[in-house]
Amino acid sequence: MNTIQYPSVQNTLNQLHHEASRDMGNVMRGMAKAVFRKLQPSDLKHAYIAISPEQGQFVYDLLIKNNSKHIVEFGTSFGISALYLGAAAKKNGGKVITTEILPSKCEVAYRNFEKAGLNDVIELRLGDALETLKNVEDDIDFVLLDGWKDLYLPLLKMLEPKLKKGAIIYTDNANMASAQPFLDYVRNSNKYQSRYMHHHGAELSEFLG
Ligand SMILES: C[S@@+](CC[C@H](N)C(=O)[O-])C[C@H]1O[C@@H](n2cnc3c(N)ncnc32)[C@H](O)[C@@H]1O
Repeated sequence: MNTIQYPSVQNTLNQLHHEASRDMGNVMRGMAKAVFRKLQPSDLKHAYIAISPEQGQFVYDLLIKNNSKHIVEFGTSFGISALYLGAAAKKNGGKVITTEILPSKCEVAYRNFEKAGLNDVIELRLGDALETLKNVEDDIDFVLLDGWKDLYLPLLKMLEPKLKKGAIIYTDNANMASAQPFLDYVRNSNKYQSRYMHHHGAELSEFLG
């Protein structure tokens, strides 16, 4: 296991994971708004809905092991997962592009990146991922998908021409019904080697080129 060696990152993560552990009320209130309509990002504007510390550590280890430098994330929220990505990018001499559609979440995430001392390696893009990630550069090493599930497949197809051979896609909440088209694609297109990680609820896919 690789330990994050930047105290400012670890302290920020500890604080944010603590706050996220009290997320349930905000999630329930948000979900209640969407009983008769589709859930909107703004319904969950106060909720972290973040990856767990175990998932963060797993992703961090993977990034260090693979010396991943060009890292892209869909779904910043308040920045928990991006802090793991940013810490690895800093150690590997790389950078992270992460994107979030809600301005209020972007503001808080930006402050968290500053507090952690990572805003030199994390570029935060405000807006719809289908627009903000259009112009990322080639040779992506790692993608973390953790936003609205029906966007997973269109986003992957948009980023695919820019993936490096061997690039890793870590997809959170891959067991949700709206992620099924994405799962069918990574498992059946012969372009990926892909497996479900039950204890994470995430799909781990390697791009075969
Ligand atoms: C599950 S949360 C991300 C949690 C974050 N990865 C973490 O672990 O801390 C998903 C986020 O995706 C954002 N989102 C939803 N649709 C989006 C879109 N089209 N473009 C960019 N962000 C979007 C939501 O506002 C929400 O904050």
